[in-house]
Amino acid sequence: MIINTPIDMHLHLREGDILKDVLPYTENQFAAAVVMPNLVPPVDNKERLLSYKEEILKTAKNFIPLMNVFMRDYNEDELLELKELIFAIKLYPAGITTNSEGGVKGIESVYPVLEMMQEFEIPLSVHGETHGFVMEREREFIPVYEKLARDFPKLKIIMEHVGTAEMLDLLDKYDNLYATVTLHHLLLTLDDVAGGMLNPHYFCKPIIKTPKDRDAIQRFVKSGHKKVMFGSDSAPHPLKNKLKGAAGVFSAPVILPALAEFFEGDIETFQKFISDNARNNFNINVPEKKVEIVKEEWRAPYIVGEIKPMFAGKIFKFKVIS
Ligand code: NCD
Ligand code: ZN
Repeated sequence: MIINTPIDMHLHLREGDILKDVLPYTENQFAAAVVMPNLVPPVDNKERLLSYKEEILKTAKNFIPLMNVFMRDYNEDELLELKELIFAIKLYPAGITTNSEGGVKGIESVYPVLEMMQEFEIPLSVHGETHGFVMEREREFIPVYEKLARDFPKLKIIMEHVGTAEMLDLLDKYDNLYATVTLHHLLLTLDDVAGGMLNPHYFCKPIIKTPKDRDAIQRFVKSGHKKVMFGSDSAPHPLKNKLKGAAGVFSAPVILPALAEFFEGDIETFQKFISDNARNNFNINVPEKKVEIVKEEWRAPYIVGEIKPMFAGKIFKFKVIS
């Protein structure tokens, strides 16, 4: 089967050696990806953005990085300049996940920025979790999404890495809300993380939840819902950091083989989820790139540099031809 212009709407590439190790896997499977800005220090100004983009383009020749910047108190001039260079601005509640210490401390504090983003048509990408009990954090954040959707009706808001069933109901309630779904929230449950031997490689934020949540996410994705887009949230951490508790699943190497199995030959819905919905919802114009997937056994890598991928060593029924 041929998949046309796959786009990963949520990707962590890091910098330096890790970037060099992980980026070829995304370049091999995707035409473009939305690159997250939670580096140290964060990508939150034009200079840092341009140098990060240059580093990515030096490593990947056949790939378009769609850049995000980290939310802060941008002024009008900064936003007008950034508008031409970015896909969206990413809002992290302070301290909610990896490298988010400099995030937002109260949503109202960024209302002036959101007002300008709405006017300049810059999308908002949100890590939607409260600081409550870990299994309830996304559900507790729902009123914040609703308030944002109502207060900024023309601002396009992406609920990233949806892991809780109830969040999906918001998509039909508010025109301006969209969602990304990861491979791990689509396929796994908390049992895969902590139901047997602890698997730190599947520990991530938001935490992977119940079978009921996973089944609802699967139904939404299989329905071909126009506002649901693939965003891997592939988040590589070296083994030594993983064992210290770093959150993030490194799924990049296995995405298309795993999704080809999930969609079981329903190429039309696969194509919408992996590309068309994103391109239509956000007018993303990137050069066409056809990716061929064949029915042939393929083993996922056991290790990439110092990072253990999702489904390490698993044999898939599908293989990406590069
Ligand atoms: C991400 C990371 O490691 O950068 N971690 C994660 O668990 N998903 C950050 C994020 O998207 O939350
Ligand atoms: Zn992420």
